[in-house]
Amino acid sequence: MAGDRDRKTEASMELREERDGKNEEPASREAVEAMRVCYQGFDPAAYLQFNYTPPRADFQRADSIVPWKLTCLHRAFTEGDVRGEVLVDVGSGPTLYQVMSGCEVFGRVVLTDFLEVNRRELQYWLAEGSSSSLDWTPFLQYVCQLEGRKPSESSEKAARLRSVVSDVLPIDVHRSCPLPPDAAVPTGGADCLVSCFCLESASPDVAAFTRALGHITSLLRPGGHLLLIGALGESYYLGAPGLRIPVVPLDEAQVCASLRVSGYQLLQLSIYTLPVDMRVGVDDVTGVFFAKARKL
Ligand SMILES: C[S@@+](CC[C@H](N)C(=O)[O-])C[C@H]1O[C@@H](n2cnc3c(N)ncnc32)[C@H](O)[C@@H]1O
Repeated sequence: MAGDRDRKTEASMELREERDGKNEEPASREAVEAMRVCYQGFDPAAYLQFNYTPPRADFQRADSIVPWKLTCLHRAFTEGDVRGEVLVDVGSGPTLYQVMSGCEVFGRVVLTDFLEVNRRELQYWLAEGSSSSLDWTPFLQYVCQLEGRKPSESSEKAARLRSVVSDVLPIDVHRSCPLPPDAAVPTGGADCLVSCFCLESASPDVAAFTRALGHITSLLRPGGHLLLIGALGESYYLGAPGLRIPVVPLDEAQVCASLRVSGYQLLQLSIYTLPVDMRVGVDDVTGVFFAKARKL
């Protein structure tokens, strides 16, 4: 049933794609299409293993990348200005860490991804009891600690997250309307967007990255917040064993410029530099940025 609905939705999104593509240079359109094809070999379990196990997800190390990301998100969601009813996570992939703080602040969380295999992986976890490719408990425990709660309260946090995720939707950031027409997102826009490692991993060049940022910005209400995490200096990552997915290498200045032209006020930019032993051969990322921005 869900598969049928997804296929109908994807067909209607494809019709709109034909219309959207008319405003792009043919070379750029082809490069975007090549990225979509590349993703057909993506393996959620391998991706999780590569990026969400030690050393990258080592909760005993202050300089491990996942604790850094969780800390940035925790701070952003507890500063008091990021609030409202609906949070949309753009390009969730097979991961849940990015909404573990936001789920305490927002009444409804919408997860999205381009690939059905990733949406299915998320649904496995949401349907408690079915098997997931990764145990998210240490991530939930770490966020509980950040919130001043006992790690043992992670099961309550898991229940909270499961109760607020209302939808897991298909999305394509290269479409001017990235979500299906019947998506349950307020017409005036969501109150907050989170997006981690999606736009640069889906875009062949900086122009496409900026266009994609513009597209997702249409999902956010004016005055709403964007929490954007992404790779710096990365040219590829492994989406499966042996599958190199090209990434547009970004620098800080390009991220700031793309946010500015897309109509954001940048509130905070933090940079993480990858320690040598975190460079484990699954990509060539050199750093990670965290941007908190407000839609003007
Ligand atoms: C590097 S993964 C990031 C996953 C997750 N957000 C994380 O933090 O690990 C990139 C994600 O972008 C998604 N993606 C690829 N092309 C896309 C597109 N055109 N629109 C939206 N998402 C896309 C992929 O399916 C994949 O889940």
